[in-house]
Amino acid sequence: MSIIIKNAKQIEKMRASCQLVKQTFDLLENIIVPGVATKELDEIVVKFLKKNGARPSFKNYRGYPKSICTSINEVVIHGIPSPQRLEEGDIISIDIGAYKGGFHGDAARTFAVGKVSDEAQRLMDITKQSFFEGVKYAKVGEFLGNISGAIQDYVENQGYSVVRDFVGHGVGASLHEAPEVANFRDPKQGRGPRLSAGMTLAIEPMVNVGTHEVVILSDGWTVITKDKKLSAHYENTVLITSGEAEILTI
Ligand code: MF3
Ligand code: CO
Repeated sequence: MSIIIKNAKQIEKMRASCQLVKQTFDLLENIIVPGVATKELDEIVVKFLKKNGARPSFKNYRGYPKSICTSINEVVIHGIPSPQRLEEGDIISIDIGAYKGGFHGDAARTFAVGKVSDEAQRLMDITKQSFFEGVKYAKVGEFLGNISGAIQDYVENQGYSVVRDFVGHGVGASLHEAPEVANFRDPKQGRGPRLSAGMTLAIEPMVNVGTHEVVILSDGWTVITKDKKLSAHYENTVLITSGEAEILTI
């Protein structure tokens, strides 16, 4: 599975899909308050994407039943929107994909619901920063594995753990393309391929306060931490260039 290089025209389309994901998060920011049901967030996103000529990338992807992922507290990823209402002190990771003009944009953010514990805030800050530590290595000529290693080192130095069972990915005309973008040094991948201009990657650290181990619930989707401690997720789609990576979903 070789890594697909996007040309200038394709990159323009990626930018549009990715900017729409960014705007969707701007819209949600003020709506994430105690009392809102996660299925209401899903409905708001579907409407907004539709209005902007896009469709949600995740709906029906391998049978996924909803349009976004809403992962509360110990839920790492792939929480399914439901009548469950947000409560003061929760943290919620929201993952959104938008498909428009033949290309996907993919990003995730973790939000505080009202006032959260110091530990929850620290987890969110470290998760976000780990992305930026990794993205320093997202440039032409670097090895892919240096992104993974930088994320792992930063997170573990802060006393937290990175999830191993799920990873980032190439993204483009398909939601998931080569390569896998691990958030840890994966012996099975080694240092990985060298990066080239025009590659588009979804870099998405999933960080746990406790053990890195996760469990999938019986719905077949919801991934939680094995020790039920908090988890956070931060993801952007980035374009590799000869200079700094262009972060397309910011
Ligand atoms: N950002 C996640 C990913 O790229 C979201 C996928 S959710 C799914 O894997 F439902 F589409 F699988
Ligand atoms: Co992704």
